Parts: sequence; C-alpha cells; structure tokens
Amino acid sequence: HDALWTEQQKRIAGEAVEWVRAKLHEDSSGHDWWHIDRVVRTARTISLEEGADTFVCELAALLHDMADEKLNDDPRAAELELERWLEKSGAGEDQVAHVLEIIRTMSFKGGSRAPMKTTEGKVVQDADRLDAIGAVGISRVFAYSGDKGRPIHDPDLPPRERMTEEEYRHGKDTAINHFYEKLLKLRELMNTAAGRRLAEERHAFMEKYLERFYAEWEGRS
Ligand code: ADP
Ligand code: NI
Repeated sequence: HDALWTEQQKRIAGEAVEWVRAKLHEDSSGHDWWHIDRVVRTARTISLEEGADTFVCELAALLHDMADEKLNDDPRAAELELERWLEKSGAGEDQVAHVLEIIRTMSFKGGSRAPMKTTEGKVVQDADRLDAIGAVGISRVFAYSGDKGRPIHDPDLPPRERMTEEEYRHGKDTAINHFYEKLLKLRELMNTAAGRRLAEERHAFMEKYLERFYAEWEGRS
C-alpha cells in the first residue's frame, strides 16, 4: 500500500507511530499499542478491498484512541493536542479535517451512535470493532474483566438484559456476559463488505468457543 504514498505521507505515518507508541505502550485497559497496531493492519486489509484512501485510514487508525476518555483524565485537552499534532504534521488541510471527523464520530458515546459518513470512516470503525471479536476479542474481554476484578462467569447471575442497572453498576457483570451484551452484536454493525466477511469468521469462532466453554463448565466434555 505505502508504495503509493509520497515521502511526506510516509514520514507523517512514521511520526504518528512514534507519538502513539510513546503514549500507549504501558496501557492495560485494552487500549494498548498492540490494539492500535492490529487496527492499523486490519484497516489496511479492508481499505484496499474498499478502494478507500489508505493514508487517511492509516492516520485515523493510528490516532483513533488518542483522545479517548478512557485514556485521558482530560479528554478535551487530549483532543486539542491531537488537533495541534495533525495541523503541524504536514498533512493536507482536507486530510486533517477528515481524520478528525472520523475519530470524533467513532468515539462518540451515547445511545444514537452517528453513522460514519465516509468510506474511510467505515473502514476504520470496522477495523476497531473487529478487534473486539474473534480470538483476539476473546482475549481482550478476559483481560479487561480481570483488570476490573470481575469473574469469568457466574451461571447464577441473570444475563445482562435481565440484570437491574443497580446490579450492573455494582460490578456484577462477568466476562461471559459481555459476549451477549456487546461482542455477539458487532457482526451486524459492520459497515463494509470486507468487514462483514471478517466479522463472520470471527463471530463463528466466538460461538464455537462459547459452546465449548459451557460444555467444559458443565463437565460435559
Ligand atoms: P472501544 O475500543 O470501542 O473503546 P471498549 O473500551 O468498550 O471499546 O472496550 C475495549 C475492550 O475491553 C474490548 O475488547 C471489550 O470487549 C472489552 N470490554 C469493554 N467493556 C467490557 C466489559 N464490561 N466486560 C468485559 N470486557 C469489556
Ligand atoms: Ni480502539
């Protein structure tokens, strides 16, 4: 892909890698550097198939968590820093605006998630969501749950949808619950054909995993 990039684009991407790596390399909340690295690689795969602008996808994937509220005590300040960084990077004005628009739309929290407006946005959001499912996604749920002190599974607990808000907020959530709460729903949310294909495989793997999990849990296999 980057055979088609200008020398300047290669330099900007390289500087973004350095900046992001320096900030994220010791995070344990599931937003570590390797999450970014995987999202970048998956975004490359999808962007080639979708005919998207690979440079915009790469920058957005690299920078997508830099202003995230989970990584920053002051997300607003982090967003300003991100804007400054992009403005000084040497990327074109349109590209800077596009990357910022993607990151803001992706990290928008709340009930009615705004849909991604551009192909590049769709690509990067798919890549980020794909990292929450499949074999890697399974690892991340258990890592995150362990970090929060939550159990692997509790067959006596009601599933999330039958849990009260009170129970949920008091950390009664389990890693296995999170599959039903979020992971198994992500396949339906894919934006691109390539994303859907990858999600299909990862989804099937999670279903197989859960089947075995219950069989072993119950002593059936
Ligand atoms: P995003 O990367 O979209 O900000 P999150 O911060 O919600 O996603 O999640 C980061 C990782 O942590 C994901 O892989 C997700 O599955 C996992 N995770 C998030 N919330 C929970 C939870 N309540 N229980 C277990 N794992 C979780
Ligand atoms: Ni992410």
